[in-house]
Amino acid sequence: MSKISLAPNNDYCPQSLFFYGTNDEEGKADFGLFCWFSYTWDGEMGVMACIGGSKLTKANIHRTKVFSANLVTEALLPLADLMGNTRGGSPEKAAAAPRLEAGRVLPVPVLTDSPVVFELEVKQFIPLHDGEVMLCAIRNVLQDESLAAEDAGVPEKLAAIAPIRTTAHRYFGWDGSDLGAWGEPMKRLSGNA
Ligand SMILES: Cc1cc2nc3c(=O)[nH]c(=O)nc-3n(C[C@H](O)[C@H](O)[C@H](O)COP(=O)(O)O)c2cc1C
Repeated sequence: MSKISLAPNNDYCPQSLFFYGTNDEEGKADFGLFCWFSYTWDGEMGVMACIGGSKLTKANIHRTKVFSANLVTEALLPLADLMGNTRGGSPEKAAAAPRLEAGRVLPVPVLTDSPVVFELEVKQFIPLHDGEVMLCAIRNVLQDESLAAEDAGVPEKLAAIAPIRTTAHRYFGWDGSDLGAWGEPMKRLSGNA
């Protein structure tokens, strides 16, 4: 394979996407869309998340030290795209009104229609110049009960929930199909055409 050198980028390295759910100062739920999310090991599995710039999600996490990370699936893509392209507190975001429930262990908002949700408590903030890395303990994993069924294997269950993957500013379905550029799927929601 003949390689070329490029400036820092992560094109062709697909990532999973998560809605981060937080509560604002009035206890109102806010959701942003995030991909800089991975796992750590320190005697038990943890999560590391990087949030850049200033945004409501970051301010809420600083205040409460907790958030939920809700897996984005193909069914949730238009909503996820909206949450990633509108600021917390904006009328567009407020109008979305997804189905919500409370975390079982932490006081975090959870999306009812996401099949896998982490309830996370930040143990360490690592401020950088513009961004910030947050090391989190996983206090609970909420999973759709269908994922525990023994009548199907992991490949069938993954195909059924169809997590979204993203790279190069585009979204891809679980089967690799192109689901559009960032900013496109949200146009399918009424009021955003
Ligand atoms: C596909 C996608 C992935 C994103 N991933 C991140 C991320 O990992 N970190 C980050 O700081 N912002 C990320 N963003 C931007 C936030 O979702 C965006 O700033 C959003 O408005 C935050 O919502 P809030 O204002 O309610 O906090 C991403 C946006 C998109 C469209």
